Amino acid sequence: MESPFKADILSGKVALLTGGGSGIGFEMSTQFGKHGASVAIMGRRKQIIDSAVSTLQSLGISAVGFEGDVRKQEDAKRVVESTIKHFGRLDILVNAAAGNFLVSAEDLSPNGFRTVMDIDSVGTFTMCHEALKYLKKGGPGRDSSSGGTILNISATLHYTASWYQIHVSAAKAAVDSITRNLALEWGTDYDIRVNGIAPGPISDTTGMSKLAPDEINSKAKDYMPLYKLGEKWDIAMAGLYLASDAGKYINGTTLVVDGGLWLSRPRHLPKDAVKQLSRAVERRSRDSPVGVPTSKL
Ligand code: COA
Repeated sequence: MESPFKADILSGKVALLTGGGSGIGFEMSTQFGKHGASVAIMGRRKQIIDSAVSTLQSLGISAVGFEGDVRKQEDAKRVVESTIKHFGRLDILVNAAAGNFLVSAEDLSPNGFRTVMDIDSVGTFTMCHEALKYLKKGGPGRDSSSGGTILNISATLHYTASWYQIHVSAAKAAVDSITRNLALEWGTDYDIRVNGIAPGPISDTTGMSKLAPDEINSKAKDYMPLYKLGEKWDIAMAGLYLASDAGKYINGTTLVVDGGLWLSRPRHLPKDAVKQLSRAVERRSRDSPVGVPTSKL
């Protein structure tokens, strides 16, 4: 789909994306590149990174890839520094690396819980920590008036509660806290905007195939009135909005991009029935004196 944004909105910017070689991260790498950014991608699997970089380069995007695991502070530091060495500056950090699997709380080991917390929450903080000195206003390659920006990929799972997702719900709740606290502290001190994006179910992603296999999808459509899948493109467009000057006054927000899905509830009464019931209740309460027990109405 054609982007509604001008092709130069990220011109001259350098973006580093963890998990930038596949899924939502790769679509963001592609769209950021198509809108003028130079792109560095970080991931654990060399093959994926290499193939993503050649695809980006074939689109005319200035791209480089670095192997690394966000759970290792030394990897985070090395990748941030390599990005600076390669491109000379850093303007946008996207934390898209994530780990997930479906498991009931009673079957999840503390190490399984910790693994997802380590990737999603601690990994996000570690990347922010290592990138700070390059993102702050007056940092290397930046002028003294403007800082860079951070985007944390979150979820909506923890807004209520989600079956078989205790580890990810906890991890993404922490990510949202990181987003707000850094927005406060680093926004104030260093002019760094920190925002998040909470995608709903996005087609053609590892997350979707792991968390909602086809048999669940078809059932979900029956009881979720707003159920429809989003596209990776939808998340990338939200990312462009938040990372570009279009979002220059947005700080500390996690933008939900899910078509309203997290608000979905099963309909407990058909629409026609509610009209009749509601009118009948109104009539009864008009005709009955106040104080009559409801059981008598
Ligand atoms: N069900 C229950 N527990 C699981 C599990 C599953 N499907 N998969 C992993 N675990 C547990 C392991 O048993 C282990 O705990 P233990 O030591 O108590 O047995 C712990 O999690 C770590 O597993 P391990 O396979 O060593 O982790 P890893 O570092 O190799 O992989 C994952 C990390 C598990 C998150 C893996 O799924 C991954 O790499 N994911 C990245 C891609 C991804 O998930 N993308 C989707 C984004 S939404």
